[in-house]
Amino acid sequence: MVNNAISAIRYPEQPSQLYQPIAYTMALGGKRLRPVLTLMACEALGGDVTQSIDAALGIELFHNFTLLHDDVMDRADVRRGQPTVHRRWNDNVAILSGDAMLTLATQHIERVDDRHLPAAMRLFNRTAMEIYEGQQWDMDFEHRHDVTQDEYIEMIRLKTSVLLGCACQMGAIMADASQSDCQAIYDMGMSLGLAFQLQDDMLDVWGDPATFGKEVGGDIMNNKKTFLLINAQRLAEDDDALELRQWLNDPYALRDQKFPAVRAIYERLGLRELSQQAIARYNTQALEALQRVGMADEPRQAFAHLINRLTTRNK
Ligand code: IPE
Ligand code: IPE
Ligand code: MG
Ligand code: MG
Ligand code: MG
Repeated sequence: MVNNAISAIRYPEQPSQLYQPIAYTMALGGKRLRPVLTLMACEALGGDVTQSIDAALGIELFHNFTLLHDDVMDRADVRRGQPTVHRRWNDNVAILSGDAMLTLATQHIERVDDRHLPAAMRLFNRTAMEIYEGQQWDMDFEHRHDVTQDEYIEMIRLKTSVLLGCACQMGAIMADASQSDCQAIYDMGMSLGLAFQLQDDMLDVWGDPATFGKEVGGDIMNNKKTFLLINAQRLAEDDDALELRQWLNDPYALRDQKFPAVRAIYERLGLRELSQQAIARYNTQALEALQRVGMADEPRQAFAHLINRLTTRNK
């Protein structure tokens, strides 16, 4: 349903440099996790999914807009197995097409029925603002070497988790769910989002670019303060600590050298396992929040299945 609705979106022909990158990005797919969460939440809480498709599309357009700008900010060349917009076109195109996608996203949210519009718009705009804050923390942290684990969790809560929470709550709003169901399903999306970003950070180190669709090693090259790097800074001793500090302070380091060297430090410190444990904890939290949402067994099992499957995702 999501893919059909996305391929039915028509973009103007001109200016082609504005609209082609949008069509390109939306056609490349991706997991469509956020709009699926919206439709699932709406259906599970007794709503009519056809009523929430516009909001679901708005959220997916918004997500894709953040990716266009994120790839400029992270200097990333590949996404969904294809060149990123700023590589295929240029930075200015990625900036302006991204802006246009943000407005297209808002225009999709605008189409929800009048009764739900104020709540939908408030949730959407609050979430968008939080994501920009998270993205700025993410960039600030590249240049700070004393980021704590709490600061990291707050950063990923903002840049990633709130959109999953928003996607879930949007479906609940469309289904006229109670305040407490709206909150519980938001909490579920939020915990799922924390696990999701921790997994993304792991895939950036150990993922297979062929399935992941993105180049690996970018976080290490950009000194991103991921769960892995923060814990490496905390746990490394002697030679490992010295080596890690040298890599962090070498702006000219080559990818072929720095990436495998830092990855090896992560492996020596058992950070893959530590990260997996953190993911498992957030997954449990998501499942606990799910229990608090009033819904029938069948949709509850579908959500539980989705949450568990994301733990072992490789793309
Ligand atoms: C990528 O999101 C950005 C993060 C929050 C990690 P997804 O992994 O959902 O990207 P697509 O939409 O499936 O490509
Ligand atoms: C993405 O974080 C968060 C947003 C796009 C808002 P990342 O920078 O880790 O996402 P990827 O890995 O590029 O998809
Ligand atoms: Mg990125
Ligand atoms: Mg980023
Ligand atoms: Mg990433």
